[in-house]
Amino acid sequence: MSQPQPRKLFVTTALPYANGAFHIGHIMEYIQADIWVRFQRMQGNEVNFVGADDAHGAPIMIAAEKAGVTPQEFVARIAAGRKQYLDGFHIAFDNWHSTDGPENHQLSQDIYRRLRDGAKLISVKTVEQFFDPVKSMFLPDRYIKGECPKCHAKDQYGDSCEVCGAVYAATELINPYSTLTGATPVMKSSEHYFFRLSDPKCRDFLREWALDDKRLQPEVANKAREWLEGDDGLGDWDISRDAPYFGIEIPDAPGKYFYVWLDAPIGYLASLKNYFARTGRDYDAFMADPATEQYHFIGKDITYFHTLFWPAMLHFAGLKVPNNVFVHGFITVSGEKMSKSRGTGISPLRYLEVGMNPEWLRYYIAAKLSAKVEDVDFNPEDFIARVNSDLIGKYVNIASRAAGFITKRFDGRLASGWASAADPFLARLREAGASIQALYEGREYGKALRAVMEEADAVNAYVDANKPWELAKNPENGALLQEVCSRLIEAFRILTIYLKPVLPALAQQVETLLNIEPLQWSDVGTPLPTGHRINTYSHLMTRVEPKMLDALFDAPAAPAAAPTDEAPAAAGIEPLAPEIKIDDFAKIDLRIALIVDCAAVDGSDKLLRLTLDVGEGRMRNVFSGIKSSYDPAQLVGKLTVLVANLAPRKMKFGISEGMVLAASASDEKADPGIYILNPWPGAKPGMRIR
Ligand code: MSP
Ligand code: ZN
Repeated sequence: MSQPQPRKLFVTTALPYANGAFHIGHIMEYIQADIWVRFQRMQGNEVNFVGADDAHGAPIMIAAEKAGVTPQEFVARIAAGRKQYLDGFHIAFDNWHSTDGPENHQLSQDIYRRLRDGAKLISVKTVEQFFDPVKSMFLPDRYIKGECPKCHAKDQYGDSCEVCGAVYAATELINPYSTLTGATPVMKSSEHYFFRLSDPKCRDFLREWALDDKRLQPEVANKAREWLEGDDGLGDWDISRDAPYFGIEIPDAPGKYFYVWLDAPIGYLASLKNYFARTGRDYDAFMADPATEQYHFIGKDITYFHTLFWPAMLHFAGLKVPNNVFVHGFITVSGEKMSKSRGTGISPLRYLEVGMNPEWLRYYIAAKLSAKVEDVDFNPEDFIARVNSDLIGKYVNIASRAAGFITKRFDGRLASGWASAADPFLARLREAGASIQALYEGREYGKALRAVMEEADAVNAYVDANKPWELAKNPENGALLQEVCSRLIEAFRILTIYLKPVLPALAQQVETLLNIEPLQWSDVGTPLPTGHRINTYSHLMTRVEPKMLDALFDAPAAPAAAPTDEAPAAAGIEPLAPEIKIDDFAKIDLRIALIVDCAAVDGSDKLLRLTLDVGEGRMRNVFSGIKSSYDPAQLVGKLTVLVANLAPRKMKFGISEGMVLAASASDEKADPGIYILNPWPGAKPGMRIR
């Protein structure tokens, strides 16, 4: 019988915008994709799994300018922070690149030329848009604000009103202004380049790709059908932006750049190409091979780009189209939506910092994932229950119950005849492999893990029926004890194979314990040899402590001095702190800070989020418990004092990079006010206070 050929896979996750650290939504997507990738590798398939930073676009350009650095530098700083998250959660990308890399410039321009000259799908139209005369740049809607034309609420964004919900064009705003300069925008026309998706050949191709062969998830196919068959059909897609823009120049069109969403997905190919070049492989041959399968894991918010624009771009450029796009829902935290801009949710770094095991999160997220486009909720109580009672209680405990006896009583040797006896429960365990395999392949991780836990239940029933701890009491039962424990070790090995895509580090520990080569899926059918020697058991995984979740969600304390225990009523001030030397004081680096921006923190009634310029060429994000005393607008543009060398603190809402000083009364009832410091005129951001 011939073995099936290993599959050749090219797998990606969405490319995160390079304007912030990873949040829990990114990590969830990477965990979903990583499990699938590891599963495929365990089948012996070749997987090329790549990611990259999505570097381009107006928001990143503007953020870089605010921080006083070039966009390239800005993006490089963000990129430098990626590794700790990916390593921390065992995400096994083969390559991490950037859409600003040379490969992407070349590939994007090449694909554009093919669309223009080969497929004849590029057209030019004149477009009228708001223009900021002070900054000399066209304004995306999100940088225009004004009065809502319907309800007259002030300061509403250029596309919709947050007060009454009206949706309108930026041009309908009353008294519009640029949020970048405050200037009144003017209408200005400019030539834009379009991808002519309205061409019937685009619709015909997309109908076939998206609707015909049950390729997409049903919910995704339904959406695609609405978009493709709707009354307006597909409109042409505006793919150009005028300078100044951080992006890739459009060939033969001076001053025009590709809109970030044109070059972003091409970044998938660019990262793969970069990876192949780095490892001496032939990118063109791999992508030209009809056997190569291409898959993209993405969130539901970017379905349109990936199921319409992206396959059409590739197809009409004469390139391989994706075999599929796997769409997931969003992660919520205790039922609450997290917001990219406000940065709420669970901080992945804080998760690691408080000593939580990354594989608990991988297991928990996997247990909640299905192939549907469903949101996944992180619920602390549920998290504790699933990890402690399923993962530890049902699976890890099997090893601790069996391996100890093997090492202590039998010098680490498995029995010699254990496999020959009838083992209905081991046979059942091996048979379960086929359906678990199919569930992983179909991204039904929740179902896969439920199936594994049912098998673990059967193994535990075997433990309870045979009671090794009872057998151990009577030396005459030695052979039987060794046999029972040997079977349990074999059962544990099989369960470990089934869990390995989700728990790679734990599986590695088990491989060391069992003294075996890295487990592959096919090893299900190859039992441990009789008489095999295992290593000494050491603890595999601890339980989740509820207090870790408290630490994870720990809200920051107000920075203003809290009343001390022994507030003296008479004097009215708190007692002085113990005396210090000047050297002690010198350890504290106080700096003048300019409050560049200030906003309320969603979900907190104490905090304001301050964006501070301390003259470092970058902005600092600082949370301060001063909401009760100040309106954000009051503070913008003011100078204050920052403890600048305080260790950064990960909080529920993000990282706080320092502390703003403020005065408060010892008796909060007498005076609940919080008073921040404001230097005399002439002080400049960055000056040290000594
Ligand atoms: N840069 C674009 C993608 C370009 S792909 C060629 C982008 N970046 S993003 O940083 O905003 O989002 C990256 C991925 O994270 C997307 O797949 C998005 O759906 C996903 N998520 C963002 N918030 C999420 C949750 N709350 N939960 C799960 N995934 C979430 O979009
Ligand atoms: Zn309104």
